[in-house]
Amino acid sequence: MITFKKLRYKNILSTGNYFTEIELDQTSNTLIVGTNGSGKSTMLDALCFVLFGKAFRNINKPNLVNSINGKDCLVELEFTTSNKDYKIVRGIKPNKFEIYQNNELINQDAASKDYQEFLEKNIIKLNYKSFTQIVILGSASFTPFMQLSPADRRTIIEDLLDIQIFSTMNNLMKDKIAENKETTNEAKNQIKLITQKYDLQKKYLDEKNQNTDDRILELQNEEQINLKQTEKLFIEIDSLQKEVEQFDPIISMKKTIEDKIKKISKLELQIEGNITKCEKDIAFFDHSDNCPTCRQSIAEEFKSSELINLNAKIKEYENGLEQIKIKLSETQIKLSDITCTQKKVQSIQIEIAKKNATITELQKYLTKIQKEISSLKNNKSNASKDHDELESLKLELLALQESLKELLDEKTYFEVASGLLKDSGIKTRIIKQYLPIINKLVNKYLASLDFFVNFNLDESFKETIKSRHRDEFSYNNFSEGEKQRIDMSLMLTWRAVAKLKNSSNTNLLILDEVFDSSLDNNGTEYLMNILQMLEGVNLFVISHKGDILQDKFANVIRFEKMKNFSRIKK
Ligand SMILES: Nc1ncnc2c1ncn2[C@@H]1O[C@H](COP(=O)(O)OP(=O)(O)OP(=O)(O)O)[C@@H](O)[C@H]1O
Ligand SMILES: [Mg+2]
Repeated sequence: MITFKKLRYKNILSTGNYFTEIELDQTSNTLIVGTNGSGKSTMLDALCFVLFGKAFRNINKPNLVNSINGKDCLVELEFTTSNKDYKIVRGIKPNKFEIYQNNELINQDAASKDYQEFLEKNIIKLNYKSFTQIVILGSASFTPFMQLSPADRRTIIEDLLDIQIFSTMNNLMKDKIAENKETTNEAKNQIKLITQKYDLQKKYLDEKNQNTDDRILELQNEEQINLKQTEKLFIEIDSLQKEVEQFDPIISMKKTIEDKIKKISKLELQIEGNITKCEKDIAFFDHSDNCPTCRQSIAEEFKSSELINLNAKIKEYENGLEQIKIKLSETQIKLSDITCTQKKVQSIQIEIAKKNATITELQKYLTKIQKEISSLKNNKSNASKDHDELESLKLELLALQESLKELLDEKTYFEVASGLLKDSGIKTRIIKQYLPIINKLVNKYLASLDFFVNFNLDESFKETIKSRHRDEFSYNNFSEGEKQRIDMSLMLTWRAVAKLKNSSNTNLLILDEVFDSSLDNNGTEYLMNILQMLEGVNLFVISHKGDILQDKFANVIRFEKMKNFSRIKK
């Protein structure tokens, strides 16, 4: 319950640079009168401005400032609620917005928007829409409940039933659901990305391993082939060396054979020399009869014996020579055999050397192969870095999948909660409980205003209005006076519900020219009767029907305009 106590304002609209003060809780009903433009409705703008930062009439904030003074527009409102005294001070030029609780300024650190929200949600528990349906009803910019959109109707009823909290929670839930959706999408994208990364890394590693394994196998095969080839060459060299060794005794005889040939050749020359000498001697004896030295004649006997001797010697020599020649040719054949063998040995040795060279090459290549094998094996065991990376990707993926699962679980909870918080959820249940009460109250007030129709508001806040002997009518079917009866009945209903719920309940009710336009005398009478029966209400009625109404009010405030400024007539 809010008890509004005092309203003060200056430099707002036609009010000048002095405070116009209105006590709000002093008399149960006050009539406010004055000529057109004297400043009566200004109090509604002052109230709306101080509470919500905007005028009641449809004008912008800067237009609220008194155009003559052009500054120091200031409104102050005092009220109590929840056993605390509050004072709100709001101004334009300079801008001001202060809330005092028990004379202490409430921390203004928050942005002005949040400060306003704090005021509406935590202190007055009313918003502009509800305030203009429940506390002030004016001709200026009053939109009857029946002409509000279903969403606005819902806002007012939720305020009344104090169930706005579910809408707030639902909005928070919507934010959470949107956030959850965004995070889920992000997680899904991330999972897709990491999966791709993981697959690529795995494929790369598998291929790399496979290639390494293949290459090692290939090299090991080559190693085996190399070793076999080398072994075969060693065996071949061994057998060739053995072959060479076989020829060693033959070759070692070469020198002896050569010496022998030399000796035989020398002997042959000697024998040939001997034969020549013998033949010379024979020729001498054949042609000479005297000794060349002593000039004595050579005896014939001697001569012939000497010739026989010499011819025998020649014969002997020639036999020997023949023998020697045979021996020589035999020996020479032997020597040429040896030379032949020697050539063969040489060619074998060349072959051995070639094979040795091949072995050297093979061994060089073997070293190279073995180096490559060990380096590949090393690389393979050093591939742990790649494996670590793969492992960390896997872990990351698992964590992401886990958080995705959590997000999806969360989504399910949110959806359930959102279902409860939605308009059709808990709120509808509560509203459904109150709708019969609301409808009953509306119909009661309508009857009190001598308007006998059956009004029914359903859970989507659509009305049906049935009147006796007539079809179902919509609000717009009715006459202005009838419409005003409906508007009044709804306003009174909201106030009754507010009292019941102690939610948007206030002492203040201001009706601006409600009596003036369309209500006939009966209507005015009935409404006044109802209003006078309201308990704990400080009623303010702004009207031009002062003459008719005056005696029904305990207090009258008269506004007047003096030198372009509005003021309360003393
Ligand atoms: N910014 C402004 N500065 C000065 N005067 C203004 C400003 N804006 C509006 N006015 C004037 O202030 C007056 C506002 O009066 P208000 O609406 O309170 O009159 P009222 O007594 O309710 O009149 P009515 O009986 O016609 O409803 C009007 O004369 C209007 O022209
Ligand atoms: Mg007015």
